[in-house]
Amino acid sequence: MTHRPLRQLFLMDPIETVLIDKDSTFALMCEAQSRGHDVLYALVPDLYMRGGDVRVVARGASLQRVQGRHAELAEAKDLSLDEVDVVWMRKDPPFHMGYIFNTYLLELAEQRGTLVLNRPEGLRSMNEKAWAMRFPELVPTSLITQDMKRIRSFAEELGAVVVKPLDGNGGEGVFIVRRDDPNIGVILEASTQHGQRKVLSQRYLPEAKAGDKRIILVEGKPVGAVLRVPQGVDHRGNIHVGARVEKTPITAREVEICATIGPHLEAAGQVFVGIDVIGGMLTEVNVTSPTGIHEINAFEGLKVEALIIDAAMNRLERRGARA
Ligand SMILES: Nc1ncnc2c1ncn2[C@@H]1O[C@H](COP(=O)(O)OP(=O)(O)O)[C@@H](O)[C@H]1O
Ligand SMILES: [Mg+2]
Repeated sequence: MTHRPLRQLFLMDPIETVLIDKDSTFALMCEAQSRGHDVLYALVPDLYMRGGDVRVVARGASLQRVQGRHAELAEAKDLSLDEVDVVWMRKDPPFHMGYIFNTYLLELAEQRGTLVLNRPEGLRSMNEKAWAMRFPELVPTSLITQDMKRIRSFAEELGAVVVKPLDGNGGEGVFIVRRDDPNIGVILEASTQHGQRKVLSQRYLPEAKAGDKRIILVEGKPVGAVLRVPQGVDHRGNIHVGARVEKTPITAREVEICATIGPHLEAAGQVFVGIDVIGGMLTEVNVTSPTGIHEINAFEGLKVEALIIDAAMNRLERRGARA
């Protein structure tokens, strides 16, 4: 038993580009620091494996809430993840083979005893749009196909549908397609890459105009929510494309959604998850790099990052803390 402080490693995008009052990873890092833990910072290219030992070239980070001077980094050190207590995989998508390769290394580290959050297996396999389809009663009527004719008849049947990529985020590539839209053929060609790629088509929910709710779940339980309301003519409720955030309650239906999916998330080691709900329907389960902490904290007077770090500490404790 050593008495060194706990070490928490954050694998993430470059810290220089972080907006301190928007970025959820930064909130987690500050929380770890405030508890006296060692906060380590690395980019995914810094992760490697040699002889079964998963290692990283990381730098100690000292944080302060001053944009531009928010992270002071110590000299880079080459260390084994065996010597790290918690690894936070917080690299933003794109979700491509490179991302998946990183999960292989993280899974190896996990096998050797390091707590990796969210668990790499889930990061890899829980597609944010497709995973929700396990709960057909919670999601809008949906079709996943690359067959353009099939999507056309789906639109014909439902009147209006949304067509979106399975690997998109920030509202990218999300089209509303009405059965009489003269652009329907063009949209389906672009979206499916002429029938070469599967996409998700889904009943259009008119409630989207009122907003797209982001609910954060910690260990499978809802801790807070924020509503993103589309602005101007853009139909999308993504902050990234200018949606406005509003305070919002969590409804009984949303509690039910969380109660249904929450235990699966917890069991799969998906400790920090953001789900999207439109008009009481689940549209997305984001495990790779959920955000929304700052907005929820501001509206609800919460400190969501503390709940997330608590969850990690509980997991460490349950497995017999190694530090
Ligand atoms: N079924 C739907 N009905 C109506 N609007 C939708 C639907 N699905 C998505 N949208 C709109 O598109 C936006 C982005 O969709 P989403 O599925 O969350 O993808 P992303 O991962 O890009 O955020 C939502 O905020 C919402 O405004
Ligand atoms: Mg979304």
